[in-house]
Amino acid sequence: MSNDKGSNARKVTVLSLREKKTRGERITMLTAYDYPTALALDQAEIDVALVGDSLGMVVLGYPNTLPVTMEDMLHHCKAVARGISSAHLVVDMPFMSYQVGVGEAVRNAGRFLQEGGAEAVKLEGGRERATVIRAIVSCGIPVMGHLGVTPQSVHRLGGYKPQGKSADAAKRILEDARILEDCGCYALVLEVIPDRLASLVTKKIGIPTLGIGAGGGCDGQVLVSHDLLGIYSGCSPKFVKKFTDFHGEMVRAFSRYREEVLGGSYPAPEHSQTIDDRTYEELLSLLDGKANAE
Ligand code: KIV
Repeated sequence: MSNDKGSNARKVTVLSLREKKTRGERITMLTAYDYPTALALDQAEIDVALVGDSLGMVVLGYPNTLPVTMEDMLHHCKAVARGISSAHLVVDMPFMSYQVGVGEAVRNAGRFLQEGGAEAVKLEGGRERATVIRAIVSCGIPVMGHLGVTPQSVHRLGGYKPQGKSADAAKRILEDARILEDCGCYALVLEVIPDRLASLVTKKIGIPTLGIGAGGGCDGQVLVSHDLLGIYSGCSPKFVKKFTDFHGEMVRAFSRYREEVLGGSYPAPEHSQTIDDRTYEELLSLLDGKANAE
């Protein structure tokens, strides 16, 4: 049995990501929340597409990721899945979809593969997630871990402050990374931790690490696409590099459209449908006939 996705030699999988780490090849990962972004990401040969729950902030306009629901994530995951053919597709499990009970967490993780078209799920936290991660992995569902700044714990952390700054906190992150690997995680996001700690974690574990605000010593990098593209005009953290200014581009394009509509230069003849003179005359005589009859 074979289909487009199955026969794609460029298809990125949990195995090819592991091989990249072994070969010392860097891994690239970006977020996607919709079909056109997924198409572009795939065409740019980005290895991993993450349907992040950052969706809540950069697309849905919430102040943090906490209000995002399973239905929100499924809706966007399906759209991204329709645009991906080579990248590996991971989806964030939203707040409260995996914390309440193991059975519920497994069922929710399963929905992302069965209904959403994802190939793996990502969830936040360290040793406190060991049981739930083992249960999800035991069902054949790959799990990506996430340590350091874990945005779903924003209120416990007191904001999005860098984590692992003291020796004790750094040791705990290293221990958690080992525990997550031992539980069966196939990759690990390290968010906003000191660069030397991220490099140390990367050396000490066998699974690929993906850093965001964690320096250049990780096996790969991940960014929120809306930050990189400059679409999101909210505050952006120190680690974000804006590769372009889409927000500015959008404002400029929308303003030009407004000016051209107000000034009458849009739509021009080339943007319009026409009918030939004979048909138009026929229409006028039909209307004349109707007027005379009235
Ligand atoms: O939700 C998200 O976009 C993420 C990335 C920042 C890793 O978790």
